[in-house]
Amino acid sequence: MRSKKLFINTMGCQMNVYDSGQIERRLAPLGFSTTETPNEADIIIVNTCAIRAKAEQKAFSFLGRLTPLKQKNPELIIGVGGCVAQQEGQRILSRMPQVDLVFGTQAIRRLPQTIQKISATRCRVVDVEMETTLSADDFSTSVPDSSEISDFVTIMRGCDNYCTYCVVPHVRGRESSRPPEEIITEIKKMVANGVREVTLLGQNVNSYGRKEGLCRFDQLLEMVNDVEGLERIRFTTSHPKDLSRELMAAFGSLDKLCPHIHLPVQSGSDRVLKRMNRRYTRDRYVENVERLRGVLPDIAITSDIIVGFPGETQEDLEATLDLIRNVEFDGLFAFIYSDRPNAPAVHFDHKIDESEKKARLQAVLSCQEQFTLQKNQALVGSVQKVLVEGFSKTVSGEQAAASRKDLTIGNQWSGRTGTNKIVHFTAAPSTDAPNQRLTGHTVEIMIERAMPHSLWGRPISTPIGTLGKGAQTHAA
Ligand code: 5AD
Ligand code: SF4
Repeated sequence: MRSKKLFINTMGCQMNVYDSGQIERRLAPLGFSTTETPNEADIIIVNTCAIRAKAEQKAFSFLGRLTPLKQKNPELIIGVGGCVAQQEGQRILSRMPQVDLVFGTQAIRRLPQTIQKISATRCRVVDVEMETTLSADDFSTSVPDSSEISDFVTIMRGCDNYCTYCVVPHVRGRESSRPPEEIITEIKKMVANGVREVTLLGQNVNSYGRKEGLCRFDQLLEMVNDVEGLERIRFTTSHPKDLSRELMAAFGSLDKLCPHIHLPVQSGSDRVLKRMNRRYTRDRYVENVERLRGVLPDIAITSDIIVGFPGETQEDLEATLDLIRNVEFDGLFAFIYSDRPNAPAVHFDHKIDESEKKARLQAVLSCQEQFTLQKNQALVGSVQKVLVEGFSKTVSGEQAAASRKDLTIGNQWSGRTGTNKIVHFTAAPSTDAPNQRLTGHTVEIMIERAMPHSLWGRPISTPIGTLGKGAQTHAA
């Protein structure tokens, strides 16, 4: 009998990537394995994002393109999950006849029963129920065999911060944290399956465990740091208002914690920050940056900026540009403000014209550009420990010569520095399983060239540690 196939289109943030993994874990016991080809799928799931209007439109246009598939195969089950599903619920079924199932952000654990019910009765289902606390069964810790080198672990869900532009508290519910033991169990299983780096996920990891009286986030990091075989720990996202001294100190004391923090500032203007309900000032943000650099001078700091928030003046924009010049971020994600249903700012006056918002976005991006490049250029001539994530392509002698004179024919690999910068390098191919040879190893790379969004270098050591699936490793 043909095995049943599941195709998932994951949109949006890392939380959705983790949730899609959860969907796979939940449906595997029903006999579903994943496919990259929607045409051969028995179930197609779209895991949607509602953070900006564009993301939502993308979900609906993908769903629209599925109509012919459904017409060809009426047995096909089409499910919509994630934040748009939570936000729109029943409206999706009314608007899209090809959709069988709408399931919200907290309904993943009920998916197996829901899918069985739909298969048996061909009914259409909306499951967008939300709870204020976590249930014991909300996250599956059964980790699949095929693991990436770097993977995500959700440590908490929801958000209680209610930034006025943001849909997250409305579609992901109240903040609640997973018990540390459960998180550690999941990470240990991942490491046994070959994962070398984990990114701990939460909307505001700094308030991890506070509500439930679990341990603090820095204490959780300490526990994760003790997991044998794990090489690197990352986390995202930190809210500047809750950045604790203990967490900053952890950058100095935990050997596996990568020297990088993503600390979204959103605006450099106190007036805008107040209207966004961010609950910190620009000065306090800058103080935090200085403290972090005091603990770890080379820490990479990246951030998010929203331009064109309702009422943002030229003077506010100048304050943001000034902050960017002041802090010198390693990288910046800048977004055009987008009205979201349920988020209070949708009702704020003085909306900014679309073309003006685009111009402001350009101003922010070009202000940051020089700093991103400068930060990369500063690494030329240094040796970086790079965790190799994969093999990208075989470089011919000619291509190699065109890009770098001293290269011989080889394979092109990529990985990341602890500071989260992408590094490409070439290494001679090996005859046995060339794709596997360096993946998962930490290699010392002499950085030779800096591009705006990546670095190029040359390996100067054989891989650190001897890795195999589930093998013990040493922290780099
Ligand atoms: N419009 C534009 N950007 C937004 N973000 C969140 N909500 C909105 C919105 N309504 C941005 C913030 C956040 C990032 C994930 O997305 O900068 O940090
Ligand atoms: Fe949204 Fe603010 Fe919560 Fe982040 S902290 S998810 S921006 S409400």
